[in-house]
Amino acid sequence: MDQASKLRSAVIKKGSIGEVSIENHGNDNSERARVICVTSGKGGVGKTNLTLNLALAIKKRGFNPLIIDADLGLANIEVLVGAAPKYNFMDVIEGGMGIRDIVMDGPLGIKIISGGAGISETANLPVYKLNKLLSNLAVIEKDFDFIIIDTGAGISKSVISFAKAADEVIVITLPEPTAIADAYALIKTLRREAIDKIGVVINKVESKFEAEATFKKLETVSKRFLGVGISYIGHISADNNIIRAVKQQEPFYLKYESSAASRNVEQICGKLTGQGNTKSSEGFVKRLASFFVSSRR
Ligand SMILES: Nc1ncnc2c1ncn2[C@@H]1O[C@H](COP(=O)(O)OP(=O)(O)OP(=O)(O)O)[C@@H](O)[C@H]1O
Ligand SMILES: [Mg+2]
Repeated sequence: MDQASKLRSAVIKKGSIGEVSIENHGNDNSERARVICVTSGKGGVGKTNLTLNLALAIKKRGFNPLIIDADLGLANIEVLVGAAPKYNFMDVIEGGMGIRDIVMDGPLGIKIISGGAGISETANLPVYKLNKLLSNLAVIEKDFDFIIIDTGAGISKSVISFAKAADEVIVITLPEPTAIADAYALIKTLRREAIDKIGVVINKVESKFEAEATFKKLETVSKRFLGVGISYIGHISADNNIIRAVKQQEPFYLKYESSAASRNVEQICGKLTGQGNTKSSEGFVKRLASFFVSSRR
């Protein structure tokens, strides 16, 4: 058996490093969270705000969302909610903590997990540590209806791994040419990785018309040059309430409930939760495991 095959059996067939096996978590019939990976080509375009406020809207509709903060940068979920999580993925990978022990409570009782330094490490972890993380994630994916992953801008190996394993990827962009160009470059990279469930949110728009025109541009080039169809998830208006809420470290969806931005998030939420299947059949962790196995070959 070559090294890749050994790894495959370790992670997928047996998966049992320690006590838990991926197979046990990946093959039973229980329902798993639908996983949405929020990403962007350019930084600072609204990923974290969308992630947090969308999670709150999802919660308000009676679903149970988990946010995974997979951004190593500073402008992340914890800053927006004004509370720092005590633990992160590293405490699971290196320490003896279970995944449920590192979950932090957010507004409306939504749950948040911080990836911390563990995120950039995932690709390079030794198999037994990776397995530890994966089997812990397999536990958590059954606890929730939705998992929303807030990633850093641009495409690192860990972003690709999450995007590939997710049920869908949301690319968020602004209606500015530079952001559109970066969004296109990101879609191109996603496409190269055979990721084709791509939805787009246009942020900071002056009008619905501007949002739709921006989407059309992106859709046309994506179809023509990449052969990939993208779907329109929605838009968020340029809204000073967002800036205000960020300064107050409170989510705009709660602080400014009747703002244009909150209504927009409501629409996006409606689109995502109204698609009928709010659960994932196959499982995020299983796909994540496959990604790591194939990327290490
Ligand atoms: N619709 C909007 N209207 C007005 N301002 C906005 C809007 N969306 C975002 N902003 C502003 O942009 C800032 C960056 O947003 P956010 O932190 O969500 O972006 P990000 O993509 O997560 O950034 P990073 O790439 O650094 O993680 C916010 O703090 C806010 O000031
Ligand atoms: Mg962010």
